[in-house]
Amino acid sequence: MTNIVIVGSGYVGLTTGSCLALLGNVVTCVDSDSERVKSLRNGRIPFFEEGIDGLVRDGVTQGRLSFTDDLEASISQAEMVFLCLPTPELPDGSADLSSVRAVLTTITRLVAKDAIIVYKSTIPINSLRLLKAWLSRSDVHFVSNPEFLREGSAVHDFLHPERIVIGGEDNHAMQRVCELYASLGGERILTDNTSAETIKYVSNAYLAMKISFVNEVSRFCGAVGANIGDVISGLASDSRMGSSHFSPGPGWGGSCFPKDTKALLHMSESSGFDFNLVRATIQSNDAHMVHIASRIVQVLAHMERQDDARVSILGLTFKAHTDDIRFSPALRIATLLRQHVHYLSGYDPLFQKSLKEFDIVSDDLYQALTGTDLAVVTTEWPEFKTLDAARARKLMRGDVFFDTRNVLDQTALSESGLRVLMVSSRL
Ligand code: UDX
Repeated sequence: MTNIVIVGSGYVGLTTGSCLALLGNVVTCVDSDSERVKSLRNGRIPFFEEGIDGLVRDGVTQGRLSFTDDLEASISQAEMVFLCLPTPELPDGSADLSSVRAVLTTITRLVAKDAIIVYKSTIPINSLRLLKAWLSRSDVHFVSNPEFLREGSAVHDFLHPERIVIGGEDNHAMQRVCELYASLGGERILTDNTSAETIKYVSNAYLAMKISFVNEVSRFCGAVGANIGDVISGLASDSRMGSSHFSPGPGWGGSCFPKDTKALLHMSESSGFDFNLVRATIQSNDAHMVHIASRIVQVLAHMERQDDARVSILGLTFKAHTDDIRFSPALRIATLLRQHVHYLSGYDPLFQKSLKEFDIVSDDLYQALTGTDLAVVTTEWPEFKTLDAARARKLMRGDVFFDTRNVLDQTALSESGLRVLMVSSRL
């Protein structure tokens, strides 16, 4: 049993904290947002994450998990301090480390001798010198232990890792972090801090590149008349390529890929390396969203609906099973469409607040479809696959679904007189 303080109670911090409590440790989750702490203490999770509410409840009931906004009071007992803080992007693409700096300078005099600072936050490669300078303590160790948690399946990913990466300078400190995960499977990769940090960035860049590749393949299939579903099956069944992150979509978004690819490009430029593939991946992703928006505008033009076109966007978050709209492709497409359409409605099963890009964000799929000429499916929620096609046909003014995720039941829709277009369709 280790006494652990987690600094930052977002989806990474809370998942890490509640899972480490489940594994038998005593965990205090700290957050500077006292409203968030209050709601966590009352058992309310401030965001949607599958399975986390039960874990938090159990951890609290068993006395192994607690929440506080008082960083200074919690730190002196900690054997390990996990940094799970946001490192958002600055205008030049680099990562903003101000929260990390603020925490380290605050705990300088409070953190126990031989404590281990474990950083889960994505920290720019080779920042260790900075972290050490901010903490100014030679008797405390820094270990990089990047997270590979997907929003929506973060708890599952934590408890069933394929690999655990631990980077540090002190073997004993690294072993102690390793022991935390003793009951979990997956490969252990023990390395230095720089390599661990690099693994995190290049993993995200590789996955983003894979998606951009398959998105371009999707458009290529449209150009040559190949069947995208069969082409993907042909690719993904070869284990050298692997099936994950091979589903075409409207482009990748979220809190990690956009920020981390830009930060990686920024770091490579400042170290004199030209990371061409990462630059191309970022450009390809934006070009893909622009392509989708212009295809939609073209379809509306064919329908002679330029002046009073009405469009609905189904799925506002950056992917299904999350309520997170950060860098959501749906919102980028909405912004691009806004100047071409008269009315834009949106629907999402988990995100229902109003948004400036939309005339209305509805909590009802069919209300969002009502009176529209064209509906764009931007996330892969199962409910889109089973939507009532006959009802949609009656409610819509037009008859087109643009399915960027290839999830709709094309047979059911076409039997109801609806047309389904995909990125891979010929116009
Ligand atoms: C990602 C990484 O997967 C995780 O390991 C990392 O630590 C945090 O960033 P996340 O952002 O939650 O996780 O989402 P992920 O499921 O990887 O998807 C990222 C984006 O790519 C989403 O916009 C998603 O819709 C898109 N995507 C993903 C596709 O378009 N096709 C796919 O096949 C997979």
